[in-house]
Amino acid sequence: MRNAQLENGDRAMTRNLGNRYRYPAQRALIGESGQYKGNIEWVVQGSYSNSNGVVWQRAFARWIQSIGNVDEIRFDGDGAGVFSSGVINHIRTGKRPRTVCSEFSHKLRQILLSGGHCNEILDDALIQPTDGGTSVVIANQFLDALPFTVMRRLYPSGKLQELAISGSGNPYYETIDMATIEVSACGGTDQRTGAFPYSPAKRNYVRSILSRAGTTYLAVLDWTPARSHDDYVNDLATGSLVHSSTPSRQLAMIAKEVGASVLFSDIALTWGHMDVGVKEIPIDLYSNLGLTIIKSENTIKTKNLYCSIDGGQ
Ligand SMILES: C[S@@+](CC[C@H](N)C(=O)[O-])C[C@H]1O[C@@H](n2cnc3c(N)ncnc32)[C@H](O)[C@@H]1O
Repeated sequence: MRNAQLENGDRAMTRNLGNRYRYPAQRALIGESGQYKGNIEWVVQGSYSNSNGVVWQRAFARWIQSIGNVDEIRFDGDGAGVFSSGVINHIRTGKRPRTVCSEFSHKLRQILLSGGHCNEILDDALIQPTDGGTSVVIANQFLDALPFTVMRRLYPSGKLQELAISGSGNPYYETIDMATIEVSACGGTDQRTGAFPYSPAKRNYVRSILSRAGTTYLAVLDWTPARSHDDYVNDLATGSLVHSSTPSRQLAMIAKEVGASVLFSDIALTWGHMDVGVKEIPIDLYSNLGLTIIKSENTIKTKNLYCSIDGGQ
């Protein structure tokens, strides 16, 4: 209790650490009626600033053809498969790569299955990719769906605090003593409050994809600007989509950790493979959508050693 900065009336009701933002955020994401488990009509209808229409499909198909021989394409967090089926259909040269799709929602997996274009459907993008050959992995507005919490650092002590929401809905920060965090799991910082999203899941996903044996091209299409403390709190209070953004700096840092190279990192619309016209898509909608392409080449699978009950052998 001593570390909490509570508003009047909340102190007596608040258990230490029990109100961490991550719990309601996780429920909102993947809880029983969460945004990726309950009513998924918004994904099917594409009623968000999606980047899966024909302009995007053409650009990615062109890029994949420019790579040459690609053995496998993996679409993570594939939704209803509009993007994956479109990309595959636009690939006109060479042999058709094996197509792997991953999707967390059971209902969306049924739709993917009926589409018939996925050779394999995984129920979680955190499942390790298969090794060997050349693989293209596309995370199209997927990283922002992964679980995260919100933290900040106190100045000048450097102490870490985690955002919590009291029983009566008031936000406050709890100090986490003795905590260490991975810098490359930290997203962009809100300049006003110091709040930043912290997502080990995001880091693990990117590292796991880039650690496969073989040649891997990982394309991450996602929102880049830092979100604010108020954005995170309002997502929960108003029932909007709970999500965190992914700055290109964060992806570059993870790439460096595993010895991979960043081939492209900019606003997606500036990518040479795009041929956008104002008539085709509302360009303003995508001015904050970043594209980062990372290439890794490993002769053997890189071991990601974290904690291990057998001593990490
Ligand atoms: C915003 S939608 C994007 C859909 C698709 N990529 C597109 O651009 O049309 C994010 C998708 O990621 C899925 N998702 C969330 N967590 C996932 C996980 N751990 N593994 C696989 N899919 C996941 C959600 O169910 C949702 O369909």
